[in-house]
Amino acid sequence: MPALRLGDTIPNFKANTTEGSIDLYSYQGKSWVIIFSHPADFTPVCTTELGRIAVHQEEFKKRNVKLLAHSCDKLNSHVDWVNDIKSYCKDIPGDFPYPIIADETRELAVKLDMIDQNNKDDEDRALTVRALYIIDPAHKLRLSMQYPASTGRSVDEMIRVIDSLQLVDKIPQIVTPANWVPGEKVMIVPTVSDAEADKLFPGGIDRVSMPSGLTYVRTTTKYM
Ligand code: BEZ
Repeated sequence: MPALRLGDTIPNFKANTTEGSIDLYSYQGKSWVIIFSHPADFTPVCTTELGRIAVHQEEFKKRNVKLLAHSCDKLNSHVDWVNDIKSYCKDIPGDFPYPIIADETRELAVKLDMIDQNNKDDEDRALTVRALYIIDPAHKLRLSMQYPASTGRSVDEMIRVIDSLQLVDKIPQIVTPANWVPGEKVMIVPTVSDAEADKLFPGGIDRVSMPSGLTYVRTTTKYM
């Protein structure tokens, strides 16, 4: 199975979920989608991940992002586990806010390249990794990450990446630096000339002087 690469079109698929049968593209509509797999139901770290994502549902909704969890466990297992997640994460507002795919045959996990390579040929032992895909409204893969079973993911990072992707889609001449969060300075793409940059960002550009003498670090806070 070839790895999914940034820019690939995510193929449409049908799946059984805790909210009935869904078709990815219909579920997605004109939204962004985050698909995230986890190793197994009724495990502690996964419980915190699904819970924290549910707690922040409004942050995703505000950004036009739909959520779709994936697991190789059975549908009735997911339904029982959701009760546990709601009990453990008491600050989930209202009903559990997103579907969880039941991929008992692992067909989708293989198709989406989410199987841990340890024990990959052993159906009973091969776990899914903590894969996470951010898919844009054109079904293109925009971010892919894989975490090991031992390490829960950061919801703040998911939201931060969405903010960055949506910003650079709006203003393709900028990029966002390490640890950037909305409101902080952004950087100007190196292929934009100085003259063009001055026209695009009349509010001001900081050109950082570097020992090399090159001025590739150009930042601005006035980009909106
Ligand atoms: C967990 O979610 O806690 C977990 C899942 C699989 C293996 C180890 C831990």
